[in-house]
Amino acid sequence: PANVQGTPPFDHPGVHQTGPGQYEVDVIGFTWGFIPAEIDVPADADITFVATSMDVIHGFEIAGTRVNMMLIPGQVSRLTYRFTGPGEHLLLCHEYCGLGHQTMHAKVVVQ
Ligand code: CUA
Repeated sequence: PANVQGTPPFDHPGVHQTGPGQYEVDVIGFTWGFIPAEIDVPADADITFVATSMDVIHGFEIAGTRVNMMLIPGQVSRLTYRFTGPGEHLLLCHEYCGLGHQTMHAKVVVQ
């Protein structure tokens, strides 16, 4: 966890196309936010979220979807999801992680 930002794939966080209709989104959670703070993905594609924490345990939930996992220091969490239409979603931390917990969020924009 101390070297998350120097370790692939987290040395290049963001959205990466891995094949036709397939994308990987590499995300780092930290106190108190996500890198990147905005995630732009296409609808009707397989989006695999690959995420970890660089400090304490955080949550990773995209409101209104079944994307719901824990970010644990030293572990990599992975989940594939398909958004069926365009829209804007809130990515939030749903595990209490300290004073700024309630401010820990990012935006997922589905094009
Ligand atoms: Cu991170 Cu709550």
